[in-house]
Amino acid sequence: MPTHVRSYSKINLGLHIGPPRPDGYHALATLYQTLALHDIVTVSARRLVAGELCRIALTSNHPQVPADSRNTAWKMVELALKMMGRTAEVQIHIEKRLPVQGGLGAGSGNAVAALVGLEAELRVEGEIHGVPGPKSRTQGAGIRDLVGDPAWFSRRLDIAAQVGSDVPLFLIGGTVLGLDRGQEVYPLPDVEPTWCVIAVPDVGVSTPQAFRDWDALCAREGLTPEASTGKLNELSRAYASAFAGAIPGGGQEAGSSGVLASNDNGREDLAGPRESALVRTGISSWIQNDFERVVFPQQPSLAETKRLLAGADHPGAASSLVAMLSGSGSALFGLYLTRGDAEAACERLRPVGVKSYLTRTLPRAGYWRDMLSH
Ligand code: C5P
Repeated sequence: MPTHVRSYSKINLGLHIGPPRPDGYHALATLYQTLALHDIVTVSARRLVAGELCRIALTSNHPQVPADSRNTAWKMVELALKMMGRTAEVQIHIEKRLPVQGGLGAGSGNAVAALVGLEAELRVEGEIHGVPGPKSRTQGAGIRDLVGDPAWFSRRLDIAAQVGSDVPLFLIGGTVLGLDRGQEVYPLPDVEPTWCVIAVPDVGVSTPQAFRDWDALCAREGLTPEASTGKLNELSRAYASAFAGAIPGGGQEAGSSGVLASNDNGREDLAGPRESALVRTGISSWIQNDFERVVFPQQPSLAETKRLLAGADHPGAASSLVAMLSGSGSALFGLYLTRGDAEAACERLRPVGVKSYLTRTLPRAGYWRDMLSH
């Protein structure tokens, strides 16, 4: 029986870029937040006898998804099998529900979902803990045990980082601090869930080019690598201190559907505080995505999409808690306290022909609880 895995997406609640490094990457400070919006990755795997070569096959319902070793899910499975010292025949199917759009980490999420599916199929958790793998198909609990195993966990983080800078965050889930080139990840207390609108403009942004444009902008403005590093360190500390004691443990769970029960007036509010932790901690007042400074001048329609998400200049509209480019784009997001506010943002985008998705931010507990349950 194949294993079906929810492959969630992410946004960046702020992204700050440091100077270029000799290895071709840039130092970053970012706050990742996982979303309920997901693809489905299905994995079937069968062990092969020693000496036989690994066989991987990949299919997708979406024609733009590469069906070979260029695919992040393929790379992850290949590296994981090598790390386990196993040979296997693996079939991966990626059912794309997320937009194939930069900024949401969809490919990176697919890589982690494929790994989780592979582990479940091969019953890796039994071996890691030195006990036989579970006979029944209740892998969910086993995977959660595995996540708690420090040695296994750090090996998974290593291979995730080899596949891409924003792959490791999907091994943590919830609200995650990303440092170094984005692959050095730290779980933070979850921000209480909010409604989220993803806007998917019909333009593409090249991430490496956006980084080069950022370097050119810093050079023009005379920002030295030392000053840039100093600014980045300050921002990393600001993220960490904003979370120190300001977020109630665990946050509130939305579940994978991202839907909370309605209240009487049909506006599904946060059941907890009427104010978002993003506002309470002050984060929403100082976060920014540095990529906006290079991407918006080249694609002015994205700046307009951000204004529509924010709703600030729409009479009577409730403003977003925050509206921003995600990663290097071109996806943008807005966060809202109520479902009604989020739906109004989708309505503002409709006349200009920008496609939108309504979802919720997904805290860590819900991320792991629902990943394997269907
Ligand atoms: O790690 P990933 O494959 O996602 O990165 C894609 C490209 O984006 C890199 O080859 C690099 O050009 C750029 N990048 C960067 N600094 C980072 C992450 C990515 O310059 N922190």
